[in-house]
Amino acid sequence: MRSPDTSTSWHPASWQSKPAQQQPRYEDVAAVERVITQLSRLPPIVVSWEVEALRERLAAAQRGQAFLLQGGDCAETFADCESDQIAKKLKILLQMSLVLLHGLKKPIVRVGRMAGQYAKPRSADTETRHGLSLPSYRGDLVNRPEFTAEARAADPSLLLRGYERAALTLNFVRALVDGGFADLHHPEYWDLGFVKHSPLKDAFRSIAESIADALDFFEGISGRPVHETTHASFYASHEGLLLLYEQAQTRFIPRQKRWYNLSTHMPWIGMRTAQLDGAHVEYFRGISNPIAVKVGSAMDAGWAQGLVTALNPQGEPGRLTFIHRLGVKDIEKRLPPLIEAVRQTGQTVLWVCDPMHGNTETTTGGIKTRRFENILKEIELAFRIHAEMGSYLGGVHIELTGEDVTECTGGARGLTDADLQRAYRSSVDPRLNYEQALELALLIAERAHAQRRLGD
Ligand code: PEP
Ligand code: CO
Repeated sequence: MRSPDTSTSWHPASWQSKPAQQQPRYEDVAAVERVITQLSRLPPIVVSWEVEALRERLAAAQRGQAFLLQGGDCAETFADCESDQIAKKLKILLQMSLVLLHGLKKPIVRVGRMAGQYAKPRSADTETRHGLSLPSYRGDLVNRPEFTAEARAADPSLLLRGYERAALTLNFVRALVDGGFADLHHPEYWDLGFVKHSPLKDAFRSIAESIADALDFFEGISGRPVHETTHASFYASHEGLLLLYEQAQTRFIPRQKRWYNLSTHMPWIGMRTAQLDGAHVEYFRGISNPIAVKVGSAMDAGWAQGLVTALNPQGEPGRLTFIHRLGVKDIEKRLPPLIEAVRQTGQTVLWVCDPMHGNTETTTGGIKTRRFENILKEIELAFRIHAEMGSYLGGVHIELTGEDVTECTGGARGLTDADLQRAYRSSVDPRLNYEQALELALLIAERAHAQRRLGD
């Protein structure tokens, strides 16, 4: 095994000597430097012992003893940083995690795509409308969505606004988690209205009731509300895309003698920026956080092995997660060779399925959507393929919202392409709404029950 040479050649800005994809061009370089200096002095959003605790939990998931639920918006926006939306998103994630805990009989590691998911990769650097070309909108951390030259200019002050919004979001999330969502153990507070449309309605009701019973039982014997025992077990993650922002929040922790990115617990490298010789891999190899890489259909065995060697040369458990997003069409062909390639390195990663990004399609009306049945099918295939290969699917990565949007079709209520007009709010990828997200968790739980029955 190769040791990382981070002591000599790596530093938080060493990525700047490598080709960096998907970075904005700032006009005012001095203003960028001022902002980076300010950001480097501000207190961190998370602390290193939380990051270490998450790594241990992810190591358990890698061993098959826990399961990761990672979810949230495709892109958070500054405008959506308000209490109701954050609370609803947290609530759906907590409810899903209870359903999964019940079904999988394993601790669920809860990680939001939250508190920093403000920068987006784009397929083109510019967007052209009526003959006018302007820089693409790259997320609220970079520029603004309106189609004017002013709005689309990369604005370094947004880095500070993003840092502040991330801190406000995580502060609120921490308070809610610490205070407990008291209503979680009353099935009447769960919006289960959609269940009556599902052929599995009896199974769903019995899961919800048995979760309520289990929570009551637990609180009865422990004399403590359940939230007190789940203290601080919610973590934040975002795509570590805009490297100046990530660099500014990178700190050396003398007690640990390691560098950490303290803007989030678990940053990930997006599919478009995972080049082995690129700036993102260079930056990520030097931080000690648990990290993830999105793995798409273009990734071959050599590339996957190169990532394992570059990003986890010591083979530290919980350090490296591969989030495969191959799509329902490709997963059977692409996943087995990837599992085999990682096996050949002699190391393991935590395997997680993102059933969203390989299943995006455009309706005849030109709307970007995803079908619930494809999302579910990809997860089912992922469970099956990993099991058949003696590997373990240790989590799911979902784009969702706690609101009643209509962005993905299908689900028990049978949303159609025509429904997409009604409440389509995402400016980027289509998300599962509250009901669809909860239904997905119920179906994963139900599948686990069925498997156990088969095994009995
Ligand atoms: C995302 O997670 O929103 C995203 C852009 O994913 P990927 O890098 O897998 O395309
Ligand atoms: Co997305």
